[in-house]
Amino acid sequence: MRVNFRVLISMFVATGAILALPVHAAVDVEAAQALAKSSGCTKCHAVDKKKDGPAYRDVAASYKGAADAEAHLIHHITSGEKVKFDDGHEEDHKKVKSKDPAEINNLVGWILSLEGGKKYTPNTHH
Ligand code: HEC
Repeated sequence: MRVNFRVLISMFVATGAILALPVHAAVDVEAAQALAKSSGCTKCHAVDKKKDGPAYRDVAASYKGAADAEAHLIHHITSGEKVKFDDGHEEDHKKVKSKDPAEINNLVGWILSLEGGKKYTPNTHH
């Protein structure tokens, strides 16, 4: 029987393409926490309690199921957009100290992966 090489090759190519699909990469928790620390985020945010900024797990709860959560939070931590503090004053939000999209995605992915939070009402309407 003759093997149809073209079919064989296209099968290999198809398999390779499936394997190369970007699986939702697992979050590197340590790298995310290290970046939050080195960027000074920990001054105003903690995982499970509110400081000047909301607890990260509350951020995760608030954005649960929102299709644009990642894009929104990436913008939030890279643009220096204005945020309102509880006392009413406004400041440019701190920018993350990294230009590497993979590192920034990882930090946002970690925040959104946190469980056990409650929704919060933001001071500002984004
Ligand atoms: C000087 C204090 C301060 C620092 C430093 C700070 N934040 Fe914030 N952050 C805030 C405040 C205030 C808000 C907005 C709270 C509100 O609107 O209710 C906020 C909001 C957020 C939110 C939620 C945004 C949303 O749309 O709901 C995330 C996520 C966040 N910060 C991440 C970070 C990260 C990551 C860093 C470090 C790069 C950081 N923050 C550094 C004060 C701070």
